[in-house]
Amino acid sequence: MAWGACTAVAAALLLLLLLAAAAAGGNGGVHCLDLDLEEGRRHHLSRRALQGRQRRHHLRSRAVGGATVLELRHHSFSPAPANSREEEADALLSTDAARVSSLQGRIEHYRLTTTSSSAEVAVTASKAQVPVSSGARLRTLNYVATVGLGGGEATVIVDTASELTWVQCAPCESCHDQQGPLFDPSSSPSYAAVPCDSPSCDALQQQLATGAGAGAPPCDAGRPAACSYALSYRDGSYSRGVLAHDRLSLAGEVIDGFVFGCGTSNQGPPFGGTSGLMGLGRSQLSLVSQTVDQFGGVFSYCLPLSRESDASGSLVLGDDPSAYRNSTPVVYTSMVSNSDPLLQGPFYLVNLTGITVGGQEVESTGFSARAIVDSGTVITSLVPSVYNAVRAEFMSQLAEYPQAPGFSILDTCFNMTGLKEVQVPSLTLVFDGGAEVEVDSGGVLYFVSSDSSQVCLAVASLKSEDETSIIGNYQQKNLRVVFDTSASQVGFAQETCGYI
Ligand SMILES: *[C@@H]1O[C@H](CO)[C@@H](O)[C@H](O)[C@H]1NC(C)=O
Ligand SMILES: *[C@@H]1O[C@H](CO)[C@@H](O)[C@H](O)[C@H]1NC(C)=O
Repeated sequence: MAWGACTAVAAALLLLLLLAAAAAGGNGGVHCLDLDLEEGRRHHLSRRALQGRQRRHHLRSRAVGGATVLELRHHSFSPAPANSREEEADALLSTDAARVSSLQGRIEHYRLTTTSSSAEVAVTASKAQVPVSSGARLRTLNYVATVGLGGGEATVIVDTASELTWVQCAPCESCHDQQGPLFDPSSSPSYAAVPCDSPSCDALQQQLATGAGAGAPPCDAGRPAACSYALSYRDGSYSRGVLAHDRLSLAGEVIDGFVFGCGTSNQGPPFGGTSGLMGLGRSQLSLVSQTVDQFGGVFSYCLPLSRESDASGSLVLGDDPSAYRNSTPVVYTSMVSNSDPLLQGPFYLVNLTGITVGGQEVESTGFSARAIVDSGTVITSLVPSVYNAVRAEFMSQLAEYPQAPGFSILDTCFNMTGLKEVQVPSLTLVFDGGAEVEVDSGGVLYFVSSDSSQVCLAVASLKSEDETSIIGNYQQKNLRVVFDTSASQVGFAQETCGYI
């Protein structure tokens, strides 16, 4: 199906029509993107965006039936603001590329069962410290939610590729900037350190054994009571401290004895402004696993469209569809599992079987391979054979627009200066079992410059066919993405995000 002209007045109606079209199973055609409207919205929203920023640390949560709903917002803390738009975009995309390459290293860990060939594992200071590398970087892990911990509140970055939740703890040896008070163990009667002979400490040890291929002694002889952790990130930032447990509260739902990292030595701009990180990965110590009695191992999110806008999304813990506002049915695809659960890793792996561009099926030998669905990577990265096929189809469908130079990791760009509207081909991802997921029209193109002289396909190529494709959050916006670890499936539906 194809749309004719679109007008600014009809934009809201158009959105409804698009949703209706998607509901009816249509997946072809183009979206009409009005460039003036985009620009207008940007200016119009700047004041509200500012208010959104000020409200960032008062995120809301509530209970819906058997589920808990947390408001999700873009994390946009920046200690050195006033960069140009392009500098900002450049920083965002290069840090994103670093995360993608770091994730590739971690996936390899779990794929290799024998050796410590991993280049990614950080050096441990003490034998009881467990390094887990990750690609966390500023502005890439960019959605935050607020939870109750002990007697206080913690605003944490939401990461589906991390196993352990951690927060900065007083007294800090070193801490990154944080808005709001530090978590203080001494003022929480329900706080306790996790002893090193506990199952939680074992689980942490197992992650090390799996990741590095070498067992570690359960405890540090020097500090027998403490189970230390050390998370090292590729850019040199880190969080170190002890494993602890305390009362976690999520919209009135209380999880006693929630295990997390109490970080007394933390460094890194990636976490600036926040209390730390929420690990939503698919492994034993993650929040999902620890709350399985309350939430059944199911969570979902809807990521809002624009970091500039006032829109907020939602993180729903639990499987209660009445907490969703999806406009199309949730379609599911099976997670690709490793036969050995210890080698599973935290990742949500699915099987990407096809892509259509403007209703046209793209052909490539690289399909039917594993892909990660990740909340913390921005731009979707595809293996080169698939990327090249998608790129070729885009180039042919957008042939009427003059090309523009590539920008950072994006190499399919157009000069759309002065155009009133653009026909954006639809982009649909197809997963094993026939689940078709149409990317929101706001997640297809990346506007590098505000004058539209460099508008790029918001998808990048991986370096080699051996790497694993990653579905990034730019392509997950305005979708309800359901992670069901019990039924081992990931679901998708169209949803216009807004805190509910
Ligand atoms: C992906 O799905 C296709 C079609 O069902 C199947 O042939 C292929 O083996 C699957 N690949 C993986 C990695 O599971
Ligand atoms: C984009 O196109 C406009 C109008 O056609 C032209 O003036 C401008 O120089 C072009 N910009 C780039 C970066 O190519």
